[in-house]
Amino acid sequence: MAIGPEVLKIKDLKKSFGETAVLKGLTLTVRQGEVLVIIGPSGCGKSTLLRCLNGLEKVNGGEIVFGGQFLTDPQTNWSRTRQRIGMVFQNYELFPHLTALENILLGPLRVQNRKKEEALAVAEGWLTRVGLWDRRDAYPRELSGGQKQRVAIVRALAMDPEIMLFDEVTASLDPEMVREVLDVILTLAKEGLTMLIVTHEMAFAKAVADRIIFLDEGVIVEDASPTVFFENPATERAKKFLNIFQYDDYHKNEGAKGDSGDSPLTPPVIF
Ligand SMILES: Nc1ncnc2c1ncn2[C@@H]1O[C@H](COP(=O)(O)OP(=O)(O)OP(=O)(O)O)[C@@H](O)[C@H]1O
Ligand SMILES: [Mg+2]
Repeated sequence: MAIGPEVLKIKDLKKSFGETAVLKGLTLTVRQGEVLVIIGPSGCGKSTLLRCLNGLEKVNGGEIVFGGQFLTDPQTNWSRTRQRIGMVFQNYELFPHLTALENILLGPLRVQNRKKEEALAVAEGWLTRVGLWDRRDAYPRELSGGQKQRVAIVRALAMDPEIMLFDEVTASLDPEMVREVLDVILTLAKEGLTMLIVTHEMAFAKAVADRIIFLDEGVIVEDASPTVFFENPATERAKKFLNIFQYDDYHKNEGAKGDSGDSPLTPPVIF
């Protein structure tokens, strides 16, 4: 899909929790149809960034401009703005007392005041596409993790957002369910939906991203194409981070070190 005009501009964004500075002046521009994958070590501020974009955290400085609107303006009507910025979380956050379909219809009917037939047609379309129309009357407790996450994605899409934010949406899933959720996101990417995706799935990041944003200690350390980032990262910090996902050399090094009587192999750092 063609990349369009700028839709989101983040300028010198700062966020602290008490004395702790978490986002230390982030500047980033997202164009329509772009898929940005945000990666970085645990605690570097990925979720905080997405939460600031969706008004779930109050920022301490800088600007967020979305479609010409200053989201950092304290007067921002977040109930209205969140209809344009969909967000999906690691833990689904579906209402347990509502069926899959009721969860999905809640926003369009209650928040957007859409006509029932129209909202139902949209929900049916999305549920069919993600293979869950036959599970529409199931409650969240009756669905698998992968199914719940697909319902959560459809619930956000049913509001017809201009941009979607995904925060580690496969992190709680068993490996065989990860793929079904990632396939939905890959399809959305191909169709040109603008997305900011936080993930630890490196193969997926490489496949889906137009740009990789590597965040460390609250700053953007690299902003590069997936090919450049994964094959030729510019910084030592990114190289070190990517090494965590490599096991190829692990036994080789162990053998070599053991043979030569060197100090024991340092275990890989787990983030
Ligand atoms: N509500 C809060 N109050 C205080 N500190 C917080 C709060 N939310 C996040 N933090 C801190 O801010 C830092 C960044 O957290 P954040 O959740 O954004 O990291 P992350 O990059 O998403 O990490 P992970 O990969 O583990 O999800 C962490 O040190 C965290 O402890
Ligand atoms: Mg996080």
